[in-house]
Order: sequence, then structure tokens, then C-alpha cells
Amino acid sequence: MIETSSPVGIINEKFNQNQLFLTTESVQLLINQEPEKIDEFIDFLKENKVVFVGKDHVESFFYPQMDEEKPLEYEKEKLPLDNFVHPVHADVDHELRILKDVTHNALSEGSCKNFVDLFQSRFQKLSRMFRTKLSMRDFQNISTIKKMKERDTVKTVGMVTDYGVTRNGHIILTLEDDSSSIKALIHSRNEALMELARTIMDDEVVGITGVLGRDIIFANTLEFPDIPVGRDLNRSTEEICVAITSDLHVGSRNFLEKGFLRFIRWLNLKYSRQVELASTIQYLIVVGDLVDGVGIYPDQEKDLAIPDMRDQYAKLADILTLVPPHVTMILSPGNHDATRIGEPQLPILEEFAPDLYAMENVQMVGNPCFLELHSVNFLLYHGGSLFDFLARQTQHDDATLPMVEMLRKRHLCPLYGNNPIVPLEEDLLVIEDVPDVLATGHIHVNSHGNYRGTTILNAGCWMSQSEYQKMRNINPTPCRVPVFNLKTHNTVVMNFGI
Ligand SMILES: [Fe+2]
Repeated sequence: MIETSSPVGIINEKFNQNQLFLTTESVQLLINQEPEKIDEFIDFLKENKVVFVGKDHVESFFYPQMDEEKPLEYEKEKLPLDNFVHPVHADVDHELRILKDVTHNALSEGSCKNFVDLFQSRFQKLSRMFRTKLSMRDFQNISTIKKMKERDTVKTVGMVTDYGVTRNGHIILTLEDDSSSIKALIHSRNEALMELARTIMDDEVVGITGVLGRDIIFANTLEFPDIPVGRDLNRSTEEICVAITSDLHVGSRNFLEKGFLRFIRWLNLKYSRQVELASTIQYLIVVGDLVDGVGIYPDQEKDLAIPDMRDQYAKLADILTLVPPHVTMILSPGNHDATRIGEPQLPILEEFAPDLYAMENVQMVGNPCFLELHSVNFLLYHGGSLFDFLARQTQHDDATLPMVEMLRKRHLCPLYGNNPIVPLEEDLLVIEDVPDVLATGHIHVNSHGNYRGTTILNAGCWMSQSEYQKMRNINPTPCRVPVFNLKTHNTVVMNFGI
């Protein structure tokens, strides 16, 4: 039963009093909204005679999406841009703080010890999170519970070192901590638990309660570290917006240059549509794959309009000099960029992109990167693990589903193997601090949503469908740019497609 004094109870009570009925999803989306905005929403619903309030009602009110707009008209004016209009917020001081980023010293020999250190760091960070959860804070280590009597109720936390399914369809996990290891069985008839268990990946850390058998736990509950509900969101005091994009792939024949220039012209207030929104943009974040690179996949040279990687970055720099100077650009790498492929990735190497490093309004960062803009926290991650997550979903092109999983598991890439990970002493892919915004790219499909107050968004791309994507049945949604408001946390998606 939900207590009426809890955030969920208060929201439900308020809507019930107004003869409005919420779904579980809509309650979650409403928890972190400001009370005045909720009052406005209730008025809006009553005016529109809504009784049952679904996720779509909440999203269309709090997160209006503009991608239904007709594409902006492309005027064949020559760049560079003339008649530059001074944006209204150009004089607001920029407040950018890099809170956590991989440094140039984050190197590894790739030895056995390096891997042991990495997984120990992961286990320590994630098991500490369970100590802060009311339901799990009194968990015991595995060697302690193994000394208990059979049929005792036990509670423990461990890293999943093996995942298997029995002939009868039960899931068997092997859990390990720094004291010992034990198996845990999830019964196939417990459908709710099975649903949770199916999302488990090797090397993630989970919490289990259950009944002890001989060297096995018969699981009753399964928990992830997760992010808390009902926390206060960080907000800027002024209406400042951030445009978030990714996967430009400059240098590819499929790079949609016209669309990208149209976006830059919009940033320069050259279009009347949504000009006020454009004038509030102070930051442009690019979450990886700035260029198409060279030798990333077999026969890539056939797809390249610019065959040299340095020339690809030079072309990108030429284009980005057209971004208004008051817009700070934060550029992080992806798997196509000139840096090591293993995550965490170092920033793009200066020797490949000297022109970008020379630009005053460019900040080069690693992947992932945790930063703060006007007190609002962003976690940027290109998304190398997204396909591992999507393989466990029924829908294979919606990045918001895996992004929710990342937040629940508090890890950007739990599975070691498919996506290369550099074994550092500290696991920098753990989501230690809860971000206000988690932004990814990589799958080239734009989507956005909200999980327990955190805005999750995948930028999309600036590239038409490649042969490889055709093969994987991925339909990209190019030329869409989510614009995030640091004060209201609203996201508007602009479409610069032809
Ligand atoms: Fe990409």
C-alpha cells in the first residue's frame, strides 16, 4: 500500500481529489515536477476533459516535441553567415564544470591485475550503493550467509559471474563478492522476478533476498542499485538551453551537410521558426562520432568522401567556426573518432584535430564525461554498450529503454567483451552520481524520455542510412536536435531534415 505522505501518495491524492486517475508511468513522470506546474497541468486536463491520465498526456504537456514541424526552409545563401543577430543571453556567464572525466594518464597495461582492480572497483562502488537502500542496507557478505542454516532467509549482494537457464526455464545466477561465491535460482513461475532477471548481464552487481538451500539461494526478490525517486532536480536560474547532438560522421559520403548547416544557421538566428528557442542556446554538446574515421569497418574507404582523418577533422572545424562564438561546444569522442577505441575513451587526439583545439569556444572531453552546466549535471556517453542492452529488448532501435537500464544498473557498460573496456584501477563507467541528464548517441535514432526525474535522450545523427544499418534493420532519424532547457528541464526536438 502506498502511504499518502510519500511523493507517490501525495501526487495520487492530489489528482484523485480532482477526479483524475494516473497510471504508474505517469506518476513517475510527475514526481519531480514543480507543484505550480502540476497545478497548471491539472487545469489543462480538466479543460480538456481528460479523466485517465496516461504517459502521453504528461509527456505532451511537460516535454513538448517539435519533430512534427515541417522542415525549415533551406535558403541558398553563402556561408559565412551575415546579419548576425546578437542573442539575448550572450552576456550570461558560462558555467561549465567538468566533474569527472578520463585523464590523459588513464592508461593500462591490460594485465590480469588491472582487470582484478577494475572489477573490485566496480563491486565496491556498486555494493556501497546497496548500503544506502532501505530494503538492502543490512545485506551480508556471501561467506557469512553460507554459514547460515538451510531455510534461513538471507540477503546479499554480488557480482554476476555466470548466467544460465535450466531445462525447466529457471534462471541460475552465480554471484560473487570478495569473500566467496554462491548460486541463486529464480523460479520460472515467478514471472515478475523472471522479467527483471532477463535484463541481467554478466559482471553487473545485483542484490538478492531469498531462502538458503545447500549452496544456493532460492530468490524471492532481485534488486538493482537504481537511482532514487523523488530527488530534487538541479536547475539554472535563467532560461538557458543546451543543444545536444551526435554522430555527425563528417567525411562520409552519407554525411548530411546541408541539414547540419541548416542547424547552424538556425543557431545564428537566421530562421524565424523557434527563433526565441535558438536565442537561448548557450551550449552545443556533441556526444561522439564527430567524423567517420578511417579503417573503422571493412571496405570503409568506399563510403568516404574525405579519405584522410586529419582532413575530416579540418572540414568539421571549418563548419564549427560558423557556430556563434557565444555557444560553447563540448565535444566527446565515439568509436569512429581519433582516440583509443577502449572505454573510457580519451578525448580526441590533438594531433588529428588541431583546428578544433585552437577554437576558443570548444572544450574537448573524454567518453564518458560527467559535467555540470549552471548546476545541472550531464552524463555524456557515446553508447558503445547500447546494442548489448538492445539485444535484450523486444524493440531494437529505442535507446531510452537501455538508458533506463543503465540508470537502474548504475553502469554504462556492465558486460565485458563486446564493447572494449580499458582495465583501469578505477571503474569510470559506474554511474556514481545521479545525472539530471543522460545523453547518448551511437544508434543514430533520436528518442527521449524521463526516468525518475533524469532526462534521457539519444541525439540521433547527421547521416543517411548506411549499408551496415540496412543490414541490422536500423532506420536512422537524422537531422533532429534535442534542445534541453536547463531551467524547466523541458526537451524540444528540432528537425532540420530536408
Ligand atoms: Fe555513429
